[in-house]
Parts: sequence; C-alpha cells; structure tokens
Amino acid sequence: MLCIGLTGGIGCGKSTVAELFRKLGAQIIDTDVIAHQLTQAHGIALPALHAEFDAAYFHADGTLNRAAMRELIFSQAAAKLTLETILHPLILQQVQLQLARPSTARYTLLIVPLLLQSPAFLAQVQRILLVDCSEALQIQRVMQRSQLSAAQIHNIIAQQTPRATQFAAADDLISNELDLNHLALQVRRLHDIYLQQSSIND
Ligand SMILES: Nc1ncnc2c1ncn2[C@@H]1O[C@H](COP(=O)(O)OP(=O)(O)O)[C@@H](O)[C@H]1O
Ligand SMILES: [Mg+2]
Repeated sequence: MLCIGLTGGIGCGKSTVAELFRKLGAQIIDTDVIAHQLTQAHGIALPALHAEFDAAYFHADGTLNRAAMRELIFSQAAAKLTLETILHPLILQQVQLQLARPSTARYTLLIVPLLLQSPAFLAQVQRILLVDCSEALQIQRVMQRSQLSAAQIHNIIAQQTPRATQFAAADDLISNELDLNHLALQVRRLHDIYLQQSSIND
C-alpha cells in the first residue's frame, strides 16, 4: 500500500493535517503516539529505559517522566543517543506491524518528525509530505498547546531538520500559515493525488 511520510517541525501542524486526512479515509500511523505508548504503563520500552536511566527520570509508577527526560536530552547528547537507541528500533517495529495489518484505507500517512534524519523510517515511505509554517507561528501555536516556554521551543526547533533541507527533500508541501479551512483545501487536493497514486500502484 502507498505509504507517505508526513514530516515537519514541532507545531507546524502534522497532527492537525493527519486528522484531516483521517476524515477522508487515510490510515494514520503517528510515531509520537507510538513513542508515548512505549513509555506509558506496561510500555515495552520501560525495562530497557530503567536499565539505562536513573530513577529521577521516571514517575513513581515507573512510567517515563517525559518533562525530566526532555530536560536531560537537551543538555546531554549522550543521553539523547541512548534514548534514541532504545526507542527508535521499537518504534520502527510497531510501525512495521501496523503497516502489515490489513486495512481498508487506500493509503497510509506515517508521521515522523525527524523523518529526514532517519534512514530506517525513510525506507518505509514512497513519498514525503512536508507541513511547514514560519518559526514565529510554530512558537505561538506550541505555547498555546503546552507548558513549554518560547526559549524551550526555539531550542527544539534548532535541533530539528532545517527548513531548507526539508523543502529540498519534500515531494509535496502543505503551507500552514493561514486558517484551518485553508489547510483542509490543501489536504483535499493532495488526497485526490494520493488516491490516483494508489490506483497506479494497484
Ligand atoms: N492553521 C492553524 N490555525 C490555528 N491553529 C492551528 C493551525 N494548525 C495547527 N494549529 C494548532 O497549533 C498546534 C500545533 O499543531 P499540531 O498539529 O499539534 O502540530 P504538530 O503535530 O506538527 O506538532 C495545535 O494546538 C493545533 O491545534
Ligand atoms: Mg503532533
């Protein structure tokens, strides 16, 4: 089945766009959602994480303290690498399981924030869709949805793939500078293209 990688920086609108595609019948696989599940109660990543990280990075119930871990990996590149070395293969495994499952959808959108830096995830997709907006809008929208400060959001953006690199790699582009109606129109147009693509693949 046609699988499109959906990427873009924090707050650019990946989840919002994915919801619009879902309403049109697309299958959505969100690696952020998978990462949450892996580190929630009974999450299969927890034993390996406990073996590597101090108790301070977990809640009393043993689940991952995401805020504490976020702070740690900002300041320590080695910790970030350790976390990714544990999580990425498990996320990939879950993605492959979901892709292998029978689905009535004509195509799948795979949401991967760091898609362009992740060869194993790039190998799962036939096209790349970039959701883009200005950094000022990213900061404004993320501040509205979370407790993060403008400085923290700016730091996250600085660690993500530069916009120019994303533009160069993308097959398709959604610009999320305006309102949700404008977003829905762009999704509708791409949905038709993906349906066509998926019938060529049949
Ligand atoms: N066009 C838009 N206008 C206003 N708010 C938006 C728009 N697109 C997204 N948002 C809001 O901005 C925040 C970030 O969008 P989200 O889809 O969660 O981004 P991402 O998944 O890329 O991090 C969310 O709270 C979302 O509701
Ligand atoms: Mg999201």
